[in-house]
Amino acid sequence: MKVTVVGAGAVGATCADNIARKELVEELVLLDIKAGLAEGKAQDMMQTTTLLGFDTKITGSTNDYSKTAGSDVVVITSGIPRKPGMTREELIGTNAGIVKGVCESLLKYSPNTIIIVISNPMDTMTYLTLTATRIPKNRIIGMGGTLDSARFKYQLSQHLNCSPADLNAVVIGGHGDTTMIPLMRFATWNSVPVTKFLNEEQQMKVAGDTMVGGATLTKLIGTSAWYAPGAAGAALVESIVRDEKKLFTCCVSLDGEYGQRDICLGVPVVIGKSGWEKIIDFGLNAAEQAEFDKSANAVRSMNDVLKTL
Ligand code: LAC
Repeated sequence: MKVTVVGAGAVGATCADNIARKELVEELVLLDIKAGLAEGKAQDMMQTTTLLGFDTKITGSTNDYSKTAGSDVVVITSGIPRKPGMTREELIGTNAGIVKGVCESLLKYSPNTIIIVISNPMDTMTYLTLTATRIPKNRIIGMGGTLDSARFKYQLSQHLNCSPADLNAVVIGGHGDTTMIPLMRFATWNSVPVTKFLNEEQQMKVAGDTMVGGATLTKLIGTSAWYAPGAAGAALVESIVRDEKKLFTCCVSLDGEYGQRDICLGVPVVIGKSGWEKIIDFGLNAAEQAEFDKSANAVRSMNDVLKTL
């Protein structure tokens, strides 16, 4: 198996590091447009192999896509990250051009690859990948909901004073501060609904903190977060290359599922060797569906910006 991570910034490098440490693939390529950056980070990671005890071959490349040839999975992290006060949406103009070019170059050398999109605004970049490449929709996966669901579990664990590993909770909808939907009704602590332990006010606080999870970190760090985004990307790669068929929330092309079409939005999907293999219908109630439709409208107007570029 071979995986390429495009973008050797903080998210891309962290994602690559996680993939390497887990020994998910025989070959891992890290590529960046900035001269020497990917080679340097790849070498740095390779120098940890004897210290950490893993054996993955990591190759760095400055924009030479021939090195990525034959990749089974590619992770796209390219583009500019947001600065404090910026929304993910403000990145659209710059990142659309970058992501489109990256997709074209990747597919030239890996026509059958599965593409994981991390670049922001993630929902629109996933939609752009779908419309610009026209490869089968099951091979295009936006990472957002996987990260947002991890943040939801973290916030719940803080309030319940429990291990996040004992929690099941998903965030659907868009990967934006106002478009994501933490599904409180479905969240459980070892199968017991969390709503049994948290009052209305606590539930609102958890949901709110989850939704601004990325923005909070951007304010603290001065740039976009990378540990959880990188780990989320690697978790998706793992489920694909090991054909684990794990259930993650990912941004995928909807064709009537969850009442939406001609859009990529976060819904629960099974991730395996074919990419996203099936959408799982959680059976939203009227209020949750209304929120989902509202989220879809916001993402759709963001997608419309693509037409003006
Ligand atoms: C975040 C970025 C990666 O949510 O979208 O941290």
